[in-house]
Amino acid sequence: MNPALELHDVSKRFGATHVLRGVDLHVAQGERHALIGPNGAGKSTLFDLISGRVRPDGGRIVAQGVDITGRSPPRVARRLARSFQTTSVFGGLSVLDNLRCAALGAAGSRLIDRWWPSRQVEDRARAMLDAIGLANRADEPAARLAYAEQRALDLGIALATDAPLILLDEPTAGMNRAEAARALALIRAITEGRTLLVIEHDMDAVFGLADRISVLVRGRVIATGTPAEIRVHADVQAAYLGGVIP
Ligand SMILES: Nc1ncnc2c1ncn2[C@@H]1O[C@H](COP(=O)(O)OP(=O)(O)OP(=O)(O)O)[C@@H](O)[C@H]1O
Ligand SMILES: [Mg+2]
Repeated sequence: MNPALELHDVSKRFGATHVLRGVDLHVAQGERHALIGPNGAGKSTLFDLISGRVRPDGGRIVAQGVDITGRSPPRVARRLARSFQTTSVFGGLSVLDNLRCAALGAAGSRLIDRWWPSRQVEDRARAMLDAIGLANRADEPAARLAYAEQRALDLGIALATDAPLILLDEPTAGMNRAEAARALALIRAITEGRTLLVIEHDMDAVFGLADRISVLVRGRVIATGTPAEIRVHADVQAAYLGGVIP
């Protein structure tokens, strides 16, 4: 079986800044893979390259065996879904309408005539509404949700597609411990049967969720392994100055 995602020697510069310097990364089908690394390491930029928002200067990106290097976001949307580091919901739309838009987007622009308004869009939006625990807020404007609820909606928007590969950029950022624990349980439940690549700073979350972890430091993957392997990896310890890895 093809890996869910393969990056081969991927590089990116912004002007004189060499942000990614030959990144190799393999994510197996069905695994939950965490990407960790210090601030500014290039993690979000890597997501921009994978999801097609930014073109790499070099290297190849392959999703489910298909070369998607340099393809635009709409052209990779069937293969992967992504959430952003900052919450991105339509504040003026109701919670359910946010999910309807996402489910409609999942159909792809060529199918919109056939799908809108359709049972499939409605069913998928409502199923996701239940999964993220916001059924009792369905008709409220998203802007009125608490921060953690907006992040849950953000997750629902990413996952309302049936893309097999999910990229989440710091899904628990800004949450307190209880909120983060709930968000992680939600992520675990709704990524079941799919492949997850998640950027996360909360080490408890990373070590609890991930099957494997890759560590990005100054634009290079310096280690990939199981949580147990990463915890004792000397280069990783050094990159985190010894203190942060639990
Ligand atoms: N569009 C851009 N133009 C110029 N520089 C950029 C651009 N996007 C990112 N960078 C730079 O690339 C580097 C990596 O940024 P990136 O956001 O990918 O890091 P990150 O690992 O996600 O960090 P954090 O953990 O803080 O989110 C930073 O130095 C950033 O300033
Ligand atoms: Mg980032």
